[in-house]
Amino acid sequence: MLALRKSVDRLYELAIMRCGVDASITELKWKPQPGPQQTLIESNVPDILFGGARGGGKTDAVLGDFLMHAERYGKYARGLILRRTMPQLDEVIRRSHEMYAGVAEYRYGYKTWLFRNGAILRMRWLDRDADADNYQGHSNTYIAIDEAGTWPIPDGIDKLRATLRSADGIPCLLRLTANPGGAGQIWLRERYVTPSPAGMPFYDSAASVERLFIPSGVNDNKILLRNDPGYIDRIRSSGPPWLVRAWLDGDWNSSSGEAFFDERYLLGDQVPFERCAYVYAVMDTAIKSGAKHDGTAVVYFAYEPYGKDSPLQVVDWDIRTIDGASLIDWMPTIFQNLERLAKEMKARHGSVGVWIEDKASGSILLQQARKRGFDVSAIDAKITAMGKDERALNVSGYHYQGLVKIARPAYDKVITYKGQTRNHFLSQVCGFKLGMENAADDLLDCYTYGLAASLGDSKWN
Ligand SMILES: Nc1ncnc2c1ncn2[C@@H]1O[C@H](COP(=O)(O)OP(=O)(O)O)[C@@H](O)[C@H]1O
Ligand SMILES: [Mg+2]
Repeated sequence: MLALRKSVDRLYELAIMRCGVDASITELKWKPQPGPQQTLIESNVPDILFGGARGGGKTDAVLGDFLMHAERYGKYARGLILRRTMPQLDEVIRRSHEMYAGVAEYRYGYKTWLFRNGAILRMRWLDRDADADNYQGHSNTYIAIDEAGTWPIPDGIDKLRATLRSADGIPCLLRLTANPGGAGQIWLRERYVTPSPAGMPFYDSAASVERLFIPSGVNDNKILLRNDPGYIDRIRSSGPPWLVRAWLDGDWNSSSGEAFFDERYLLGDQVPFERCAYVYAVMDTAIKSGAKHDGTAVVYFAYEPYGKDSPLQVVDWDIRTIDGASLIDWMPTIFQNLERLAKEMKARHGSVGVWIEDKASGSILLQQARKRGFDVSAIDAKITAMGKDERALNVSGYHYQGLVKIARPAYDKVITYKGQTRNHFLSQVCGFKLGMENAADDLLDCYTYGLAASLGDSKWN
């Protein structure tokens, strides 16, 4: 493993040498906006949280901040920009291409920018804290953790902090960006927001470092509001009210302890569709370690884009404890249910089948079911690769715009599962809170997958 890393590092050094070094990157196209971005760029406090609203200009601020660092320190500047997941990182890479074109070359294989003046910036993701160990022995002069609030604990970030060092004596900088309302709200608030008034640097003696919190609001990003005047309204309808407050006002005291999917938004007249375009089911076969998580769940949906009501209904659900080998025996029942629903709801395209996560026991089930001629499909890997919180955030706009309702049979259904008799669909979906990693989530997963399937723009394969 170590040998492999060494040879990758060697290849990487060779790529840098081939790139050639030019003295300056002065003709920069990017400028900070007045306000928080300007403050960040001018500050040499070693550890800063740049925090606030969604769309507050955080990603631009750190990409631009590194540009300034690169310009100042040239070949001594060694940067690392991190996001939690690969799809999130892709967003940052896309924007970096717009900002760095002409002053740096991007090496796709290494996910690394080589600046004309010798500075280097690596773009990475870190979804497991343990992966931070792979960075031991590296030296960085600049680390930016974009959306640090997606890390529920700071352990991985703290390990990376240890790689901040410069043999050439240039200042080493750590920059975090975050919105309140994420899984990391509490540790970020305690570390950066409460110790000192916003904008006032303070010395954290336990960590032996000077820190600063720079708040930024959506109103500080005039460029975005000018280019996209509907932005604030869209944010308002894209999440629970407490989270919208956190997103727009940058309120670090808003409660991340509140339920994420408010039940009231699921309620309508609750009469099942009289006719619809199609019905489908989403199945979560997650067999995780430990007996606590061995539930297999299925949620049935009906979709009708042309009606006067919300286009999506949850029409039925089920959950049971079942071992991997017996999953296939459950399939005929699920398809009979789909056929019944298609008939009752006069589905024009009938049943379009069952969607299953192509992971672990799901992959085996997909293979077995296909072999036996069942109409099953794999859920897009882009969606299954996301964490639970991210997936919830991804579809919360559909929930809060009232695009999905629960029909009476699914609302009234109560079953006994693992000794508890209740509506498990409602208790899982409407009881879910951000950062709740260990709770039963099989029906919740079916719900978020199901929304992404017919309301999202994701391609299902
Ligand atoms: N200094 C800037 N110069 C030009 N455009 C900017 C600048 N700051 C922000 N923007 C624009 O605003 C958009 C949203 O900002 P972004 O940094 O992505 O916000 P956040 O990361 O806080 O959600 C950017 O994609 C970019 O188009
Ligand atoms: Mg961003």
